[in-house]
Amino acid sequence: MHLHKYEKIWLTFGIGSLILFLTVIGIGAFYKGSQPPSHLATIDPQNVEAHEAFREENLGLRKVGDNEYIVSVVASAFNYDLGKDEEGNAIREIRIPVGSTVLFQVTTKDVIHGFEIAGTNVNMMVEPGYINSLETVMDKPGTYTLICNEYCGSGHHFMATKVEVFEP
Ligand code: CUA
Repeated sequence: MHLHKYEKIWLTFGIGSLILFLTVIGIGAFYKGSQPPSHLATIDPQNVEAHEAFREENLGLRKVGDNEYIVSVVASAFNYDLGKDEEGNAIREIRIPVGSTVLFQVTTKDVIHGFEIAGTNVNMMVEPGYINSLETVMDKPGTYTLICNEYCGSGHHFMATKVEVFEP
């Protein structure tokens, strides 16, 4: 079979790209252990309190180890529920010591919301019936804004909370 010179170049390039691509994915998946960002975790949206992570006393920031935290949030129109303080007032901000590893786990009772901490790599869609989680290291001190970036109704643009990453 005769192949034209350009055809050969093109085939070599095509097959080469394919091998390179599969190698990169293969190293990522099998050697580095990368997985798709969202493992499938479901929840009853009518009864999120039944899930351990979203029980009243577990909402908001929880210390689970040296420099390790879990932040559990229930999003609803038009608020992020971070639990209550000792006096029973709703907590309005998340305060995290710089350098902490934080697992954010979020769900919603009503409609689709967003969960984006502007200026960081935390950016999730929050869907009723699912638990969305993301682990990250908060390594830059500063004041961030947690915002909803999915249109969820008339109060959508008021749906925001302060995130403070502070030097202890
Ligand atoms: Cu919640 Cu937009």
